[in-house]
Amino acid sequence: MKNKSEGPKINQAIRTDIENSVLCWLATVDAEGTPNVTPKEIFSCYGDDHLVVADIASTNTVRNIKTHSAVCASFIDVFRQRGFKIVGTATIVPPEHPDFQIIGIELLRKAGTAFPIRHIVSIKIVRISRIWAPSYTLFPDRAEADRMQSAYDAYGVNPRIAPDV
Ligand SMILES: Cc1cc2nc3c(=O)[nH]c(=O)nc-3n(C[C@H](O)[C@H](O)[C@H](O)COP(=O)(O)O)c2cc1C
Repeated sequence: MKNKSEGPKINQAIRTDIENSVLCWLATVDAEGTPNVTPKEIFSCYGDDHLVVADIASTNTVRNIKTHSAVCASFIDVFRQRGFKIVGTATIVPPEHPDFQIIGIELLRKAGTAFPIRHIVSIKIVRISRIWAPSYTLFPDRAEADRMQSAYDAYGVNPRIAPDV
């Protein structure tokens, strides 16, 4: 996960948890230092050292980043009960930026035409840390299937089982 000379890199474990996380929570601070944290569904990694998030309706987030570039994003796979926290430096990429389509390729795919992307929030990763549910340390021998079943029970979810083909 960490490369000393170039900063942290996105590895497969991070990619997997991004794919399995429905939302990320993006925290910014305003000019007075007041924190702001809101959910974003349209997010992905870009390359191996950036997280990108779609601004579809995030006026305060964009305004805050323009004065304070430090951000923190976290996401979890609610069923496996683990995820990551990313601290980074954000820039706002407007649609007229020459690389908007490239940087936003995954966001544009996820959002489709129904959810226009006003800007891309591009986050250069400075620090990554794991988020584990406490059960990982309290019950380290619990099997993943049992952990997932307890999350299904907690959320009242009945997972679809893929039919044998
Ligand atoms: C489930 C869910 C998913 C959302 N996904 C996004 C998103 O991907 N991008 C976005 O800009 N807003 C998204 N929003 C809306 C923002 O969270 C919401 O407009 C929020 O008030 C923006 O706050 P801000 O202006 O402080 O950033 C989502 C909201 C919910 C409830």
